[in-house]
Amino acid sequence: MTAMKLIVLRRARKSDRSKHRRRLIAVAAATAALLATPNLVLAMDFPAALKRVDHALKTNPSQVSQFALDSCFKRRSFAVKLYESRQVDRAERSLQFCFDALKVSEVAPKAKGKAAPDMDKIKAKAVQETEQALNLTPNVKHGLEVYRECASCHKPEGWGLTNGSVPQLAGQHSNVVIKQLVDIRAGSRGNPMMNPYSCVEAIGGAQSVADVAGYIDTLEISVANGKGPGINLEVGERLYRENCARCHGASGEGDPLKYAPRIQSQHYKYLVRQYRWIRDSKRHNANAEMTAQIKDLKMTEAKAMLDYVSRLEPPEELQAPEGWQNPDFAESKSN
Ligand code: HEC
Ligand code: HEC
Repeated sequence: MTAMKLIVLRRARKSDRSKHRRRLIAVAAATAALLATPNLVLAMDFPAALKRVDHALKTNPSQVSQFALDSCFKRRSFAVKLYESRQVDRAERSLQFCFDALKVSEVAPKAKGKAAPDMDKIKAKAVQETEQALNLTPNVKHGLEVYRECASCHKPEGWGLTNGSVPQLAGQHSNVVIKQLVDIRAGSRGNPMMNPYSCVEAIGGAQSVADVAGYIDTLEISVANGKGPGINLEVGERLYRENCARCHGASGEGDPLKYAPRIQSQHYKYLVRQYRWIRDSKRHNANAEMTAQIKDLKMTEAKAMLDYVSRLEPPEELQAPEGWQNPDFAESKSN
């Protein structure tokens, strides 16, 4: 299929911009196929994480007990075996145990002396473009044209993938979609996978951002999203109420005034990944107040909470009927 597409691409004698677009679509299709791998793990670069565990085993930076060191060592060997037999998801979990046991962060501290990209400048630029896009009237028809490229990963219905590699966008507050999209393309929210598809060259300026968000706003929410394992849901509910509801709402409906995303009916594994990245400052655009709120919660508690969240549903009028397919994509297969 890819070879065919490449031939088609070569023959295309359109403008450079449209060539660039077509190439992007072909690459997006390949990436989308990768994202659909059942046990794909986006969160951690295993070899780098292993290096950090080994270093922490040697230096014991948090002065944990001999027992913790021993049990981490066992889990470390187990993780390597799992990784070698390509059970990446389980390998990651074993290594995660080590990070917890040794009380070290999964994320490497920033190298000293190396000039980091100027986050303040990047953020200021993003804030500016977000405001610009928020003040424009969306052209939903053009939004659909833009969305066609997003659909290879986010799916025509905007439901993403239940394995959590790609989030559900349907039902997300428009201003949250705008902010996140702008943050991603400005570099203020790390997401290398999506960068080429969200940049100005690929989709256009602030107007296109407003348009695609306007189109996404027409999509209804799937409640057949990826859920967690279903244990400790009562604990999850209590912790959610205590720690999260004031911003994300009693049923996870979010709060557009605070740019707090709708998280109800979001894929569990996506929630867990974002939660970790926010906690570990890997998602540069995190909300500082939220980061402070979650810093003392254990990962097992967080998982119970996020499992509970993934099962919260929006009001019926926002839910897509079962088996709904986006009619805007019905006849597009031949284009
Ligand atoms: C190549 C696949 C791919 C394409 C194409 C793509 N995305 Fe994404 N998108 C992702 C992935 C993967 C994530 C989640 C990244 C992460 O885990 O941080 C994401 C995240 C997002 C988010 C953040 C959602 C949230 O809940 O915070 C928004 C908004 C978004 N995409 C919008 C778009 C739009 C609009 C387009 C088209 C212009 C698009 N994406 C094209 C893969 C893609
Ligand atoms: C002070 C308000 C606040 C509190 C409290 C809070 N959050 Fe958030 N949360 C936010 C905001 C704002 C964002 C979006 C940040 C951004 O702009 O990227 C967010 C983002 C998230 C995301 C990423 C969603 C996505 O679609 O990408 C998850 C998951 C999340 N929060 C879970 C939680 C959980 C679980 C709790 C409770 C333990 C919690 N939050 C507490 C404000 C809050």
